[in-house]
Amino acid sequence: MWDAQMYHRYGAQRLQPSLDLARALENKKPRRILDVGCGSGMSTACLVSAFPDAEIVGVDLSQEMLQKAKENLPTVQFLLRDCSKPLSDLGTFDLIFSNAFLQWIPNQETFIARAFAMLRPNGAFAAQIPLAQEMPSFSCILEAEKQFPEKMKQIQPHKYVLHGAGDYYNMLASCTSDISLWITEYCHPMDSPEQILAFLQGAALRPHLEYLEPEEQALFFEDLLTRLKNRYPRQANGKILFPFRRLFVIGKADARIV
Ligand SMILES: C[S@@+](CC[C@H](N)C(=O)[O-])C[C@H]1O[C@@H](n2cnc3c(N)ncnc32)[C@H](O)[C@@H]1O
Repeated sequence: MWDAQMYHRYGAQRLQPSLDLARALENKKPRRILDVGCGSGMSTACLVSAFPDAEIVGVDLSQEMLQKAKENLPTVQFLLRDCSKPLSDLGTFDLIFSNAFLQWIPNQETFIARAFAMLRPNGAFAAQIPLAQEMPSFSCILEAEKQFPEKMKQIQPHKYVLHGAGDYYNMLASCTSDISLWITEYCHPMDSPEQILAFLQGAALRPHLEYLEPEEQALFFEDLLTRLKNRYPRQANGKILFPFRRLFVIGKADARIV
C-alpha cells in the first residue's frame, strides 16, 4: 500500500532524479511517452514540462497514488496496471521512463525486454533505480529486521528486489548495444535521524508499515532509529547528511538487438 502523503513528505528530494533523467534526454523529441510506475505523478509532471508536446501515458498499480496523479495532472492519461505483466496493448512509445519503480517488480529483466519491444525506432528506455544496498541505511534496516525473522520471511516477497549497476548493464545489453549508465549520490541535509526514518518510510519501508503489527512496528522503528543515529553523524551545525545513491540507465532502440 503506497501512501501519497508520506511519499510527498520529501518531494523535492524524490523529484530531483526525474529532473536529471529527463534532462539527459532533452535532445530527444519523444511524441509518445510511457511513465511506468508513475505513482502520484511526480515523474509524470517532470515529463510534461520537459516534453510539453508529447502524449503521455502513466501506469501504476496503486489506486491511491493514481488518484493524486489524476488530481495534479488532469490532462494526462493515467491507467491502473500491473507493470510486471505485459503492457503491449498500450501500443508503441518513443520513450519509456521509469523513475524509482523497477526495483518494485521481481521480473525486471523480462520487464526491460518487453519495454524494448514496445519502443519505436529511435526510441529510448530510461530508468533511475536507487542503489539501496550500497547505503548505510540498508544495513541498519537488515539489522533491525533480525528481531522478527519469521515475519520477515512473510514480508520478503513484498520488499524491493535490488540489483547492482552491472546487473542492469547486462539486462540492457541483451536488448541494445547503445547504453549509458551513471551513478549520482545525492546528499540530503536532514535535521534529525527521525527525518531519515520518515524518508525511508515513504518508500523502502512501505512493506514494513503494511505487514508488521503495530507493536512490532513500534519495536522495529525504535531499533532502526537507534541504528540510524549511530550511523549518520551530525555536522558542525547540527544537520545530518543523508547520502542517497541512485543509478541511471538509458538504452537506445536504434541499436536494438533483435
Ligand atoms: C517510489 S514510487 C515512484 C513513483 C514515481 N515514478 C515518482 O517518480 O515519484 C514507486 C511506484 O511503483 C508502483 N508500483 C510498484 N509495483 C508496481 C507494479 N507491479 N505495477 C505498477 N506499478 C507498481 C507503486 O505503486 C509506486 O507508485
